[in-house]
Amino acid sequence: MKIAVIGTGYVGLVTGVSLAEIGHRVSCIDVNEEKVAKMQQGISPIYEPGLSELMTKNINERRLSFTSNHREGIEQADVIYIAVGTPEKSDGSADLSFVVQAAHNIVDCINHNVIVVIKSTVPVGTNDMISEIMQCHLTSDIEVEVVSNPEFLKEGSAIYDSFHGDRIVIGANSERAASLIEQINQPFQVPVFKTDIKSAEMIKYASNAFLATKISFINEISNICELLGADIENVSNGMGMDQRIGSQFLKAGIGYGGSCFPKDTKALIQIAGNVEYEFELLKGVVNVNKKQQGILIGKLNDCLPNILGKKIAVLGLAFKPNTDDLRESASILVTTELIKQGAEVVAYDPIAMTNAKSILDPLVQYAVSIEEAIENSDAALILTDWDEFKNVDLAVFKKMKKPLVIDGRNCFSVKEMERNGIDYYSIGRSV
Ligand code: UGA
Repeated sequence: MKIAVIGTGYVGLVTGVSLAEIGHRVSCIDVNEEKVAKMQQGISPIYEPGLSELMTKNINERRLSFTSNHREGIEQADVIYIAVGTPEKSDGSADLSFVVQAAHNIVDCINHNVIVVIKSTVPVGTNDMISEIMQCHLTSDIEVEVVSNPEFLKEGSAIYDSFHGDRIVIGANSERAASLIEQINQPFQVPVFKTDIKSAEMIKYASNAFLATKISFINEISNICELLGADIENVSNGMGMDQRIGSQFLKAGIGYGGSCFPKDTKALIQIAGNVEYEFELLKGVVNVNKKQQGILIGKLNDCLPNILGKKIAVLGLAFKPNTDDLRESASILVTTELIKQGAEVVAYDPIAMTNAKSILDPLVQYAVSIEEAIENSDAALILTDWDEFKNVDLAVFKKMKKPLVIDGRNCFSVKEMERNGIDYYSIGRSV
């Protein structure tokens, strides 16, 4: 099958590369010529384990190509995927301008019948709207059918998830279109769920909102555990053994970040609001998350009431491990507040520091290692649960003025830290 993918952000690029890997001929289109030039050489614009290797392999085997020319990418395609961004607008709703632009680009370039698959996360009703835009602008008797095929990949394990997903959701108006997309995806050997278009669009938002709800729920339980002397790790483990609850996404911490949960929860509140439904539960989830992202500052201020001029080490800047992505990461809020309170902030992250430099306050300093970051520091805050932190030799904390570790991801055992003479505070566990 010849496939075009418009947009090479994390969803588009991973989709294109995975489809090439299972044997399709894929042309990935992006307006950014500099980025295209790099991708043509197998250089991935994002850090994603295994991605560059698969890019290079499929480019060499001539199944994968990149272009900034829509006509060149689309001309021969049987199926065109739209995987452009739907960023958050100031009112929380999804900005659909890139999706609409992609639809216009398709109409301008095609001269044969095609199926357009929308991978971008779009509000319920968008697939129909895009279908109408294309029908209106098609001059000849060319037929275009739109299919919703939302994405459930996680950053940091996106390639693995492509081949080991729980389901592929296909929302279509015709069995013919649904079957064709099912056939394209067949080599992934992932269960397929076929449904109507609006339900497919809702499945995406509802899934992300539900996972975000699980996280905010367990974070609130962790705050109550601290007050009552229970241990959140034991509570999560005990709850997760109930298969109706499930053990995943019950890890308490400093809230969810990234390009999806914060954006999609707010967008779903808007989507509901547009039909005059107040999604009260989800509003609570969003508020709890905001509060949770700043929780380490409160813990730090309890230990060190005045941090003016104090050296604070920040370990971990990415919104989660195995990615260089800082979008909506707690590190943004935490470092901003530390700088505001006059602290000297020295940060270290194994992968995300290059990105961090263009996002965080310019006063944040960067270290090349954990050791350098914490040397002579007054406190160390852990914001991301990188393996490098979890496996560190605890003796390293002796380099601090007086070992004080405030851990937002429960990377260490409380007892072990105590044994090593480290003053240690974490999430939902008694000190
Ligand atoms: C999320 C979903 O998990 C994917 O299924 C979805 O496809 C994707 O959004 C998307 O819409 O594109 P992602 O944002 O990459 O994936 O990251 P997650 O692994 O879900 O983590 C999100 C945030 O939740 C991270 O900040 C993580 O630290 C936090 N989290 C996750 C917790 O605090 N506790 C948990 O138990 C799990």
